[in-house]
Amino acid sequence: MIYPIVAYGDPVLRRKAEEIDENYPDLDTFIANMFETMYASNGVGLAAPQVGKSIRLFVMDADTFSDEEPELADFKKVFINPIIIEETGEKWAFNEGCLSIPKIREDIWREPEIVVEYYDENWILHEETFKGMAARIIQHEYDHLDGILFIDHINPLRKKMLSSRLKDISRGRVRVDYKMKFPLK
Ligand code: CO
Repeated sequence: MIYPIVAYGDPVLRRKAEEIDENYPDLDTFIANMFETMYASNGVGLAAPQVGKSIRLFVMDADTFSDEEPELADFKKVFINPIIIEETGEKWAFNEGCLSIPKIREDIWREPEIVVEYYDENWILHEETFKGMAARIIQHEYDHLDGILFIDHINPLRKKMLSSRLKDISRGRVRVDYKMKFPLK
């Protein structure tokens, strides 16, 4: 089942999401639907708050970047209750976008290497190091769990210049080819 993706301006995107445990109902179905929704919108990552669920879970598939980074082939993962323990290295810029903020892209500076502790879909605990695009996607999705959006990382003047476009997105005045839910429509 494909969920509508919540657009910028919906309060759920600003909430700090809650941890879940193994008793969370229908988790397998939810995860399958998250992947289906992400693929239907050509995303590389999707966080639960973006489909209106304020829980600490995101999915990602970085295979599309495997041309440049071969280790990302079939890089499909689920992160439950993740904690970024460490972010290191000199920040690098990448032109990021977000399924909740269609048609806007900005250069965002982030550390290139992270250590993350997380549970996978089988509730196995991992502590892993990620670099490059994998780290980048995890940092972006992890931010969603804390109510942070990529545009929060740009300078205030630049953000102000985007404000009318952001308002248009909240009102549904944007053309997208995937299903969305607009807070002011
Ligand atoms: Co996003």
